[in-house]
Amino acid sequence: MREESPNCNGLVGVGRSICEHPASTTPVHQSVHIPYGFWVLVVLAAVIMVLTALSPLLRRRAPRVWWTLCGYPAAAVRIRWTWRRLTDVQYLSVSKRPALGIVGDMVVRGRALKQIPPRMGLPRWRRGGLLVRVRLHSGQTPEQYQLAAEAMSHAWRMYSVRVTSDARGFVEIRAAAWDPLATPSVPRSLVVELLSAVVGQWEDSTEWTVNLRRVPHWLIVGATRSGKSTLLASLVSAWARQRVALVGIDLKGGMELSLFQARLTALATTRAGAADLLSTLVTMANDRMELCRSVGARSIWELPDKLRPMPVIVLVDELAELYLMATTAEKAEVAQVSTALLRLAQLGAALGLHLVVSGQRVGSDMGVGVTALRAQLGGRVCHRVNDVGTAEMALGDLDKDALAVAQQITAEQQGVAVAFGDDGGWMRARSILTTPEQARRIAERYAHLAPSMGQLGTYQRQAGGTP
Ligand SMILES: Nc1ncnc2c1ncn2[C@@H]1O[C@H](COP(=O)(O)OP(=O)(O)OP(=O)(O)O)[C@@H](O)[C@H]1O
Ligand SMILES: [Mg+2]
Repeated sequence: MREESPNCNGLVGVGRSICEHPASTTPVHQSVHIPYGFWVLVVLAAVIMVLTALSPLLRRRAPRVWWTLCGYPAAAVRIRWTWRRLTDVQYLSVSKRPALGIVGDMVVRGRALKQIPPRMGLPRWRRGGLLVRVRLHSGQTPEQYQLAAEAMSHAWRMYSVRVTSDARGFVEIRAAAWDPLATPSVPRSLVVELLSAVVGQWEDSTEWTVNLRRVPHWLIVGATRSGKSTLLASLVSAWARQRVALVGIDLKGGMELSLFQARLTALATTRAGAADLLSTLVTMANDRMELCRSVGARSIWELPDKLRPMPVIVLVDELAELYLMATTAEKAEVAQVSTALLRLAQLGAALGLHLVVSGQRVGSDMGVGVTALRAQLGGRVCHRVNDVGTAEMALGDLDKDALAVAQQITAEQQGVAVAFGDDGGWMRARSILTTPEQARRIAERYAHLAPSMGQLGTYQRQAGGTP
């Protein structure tokens, strides 16, 4: 029988000899080797536990940090995990087997059990969201994926999912973790090229820029208190710093645009005043045309610097007021205004004359001129609207999907709009909240940049506009 030595804790055999020589006890500890991978797993588990515990707090306090550390990894795993089932349910998977089969002497149509999901790339991190690229199966179109966008946002617990296609055979799925327009960030740099204005943020968190060189005329619509004047204030705040002339037409008694009066070269607050101002601008357009023709230029931008006239931006707040008529006498005035606006819209782009027109309600019933004018106003911004007709007027001729999204904007989402970008695509966006006081201060600070402009000066004296 083997004997156990005292203080050997039951070690026998080889262990006994070790135990007998205290100096040689070290090898016992070395033999308990814990693999390196184990420690990695322990640390990983600890990190996951800490992040899971902190996740709700992080989400509330620092959503961007939360998204990077917790939200994005979880969403990426969820997307990979649910992809097969999701594409199967949404009929985006296909089978190699034909849909037709023979049972006895009959041909039957069915769906093969084994479906192959479309091949998906790795979900890539984006600020407040993610992007994943998917290769289409032969015979599929991006529209099929767009129809499944709602299902994707539910399956992945994302705020919204948008599907676009920028290369043949592929779609890009962009998912947003939360509504970026709920708390838009003010763009860092407001300094841009001439006639451009950074006015807010797009839904994909990029800067929303209105560039009159690319899209010369804009139509902004929205119900009362939806954010039209705030957007105009953001535009004016940006253009006030540039070497451009700003002209206002505000038939709400000048309540909105008079805030920027210090920076405006002219402001018309009555329809008679507006008619005179617009006819002066049409004369200005004719003069500029003459100038361009005399030097063989097709636009003022082809003129030598010293000859180039200053661009003029005409801001109209409440278009409907210009078209409203009660008496026959007013009819002639409305016709004059309507024709002048249309002429400016048609000729202005090349001549540095730009229109930014806003209105609560814009409909074809306001007059023939309105639909013709709308066709010339390529830039469109549609805030929350009360009537479908106005949204249709602003977006319906361009994109029916944009129209549907615009109708979902709620009264609480002031400043949120569906807008068209320079590339012709649309997205939701939110303007920078520019308060009337801020706009007034900016207009006063840059008042010295307001050009007097001979022709408009004449208007001011003759038509009684406010200089
Ligand atoms: N981008 C925005 N972010 C946050 N709040 C906004 C934004 N735009 C507008 N608002 C809020 O909505 C209010 C109404 O906006 P605004 O005066 O621009 O509306 P409007 O469409 O011009 O209305 P009206 O047709 O009556 O003139 C503002 O006082 C402001 O509180
Ligand atoms: Mg307003």
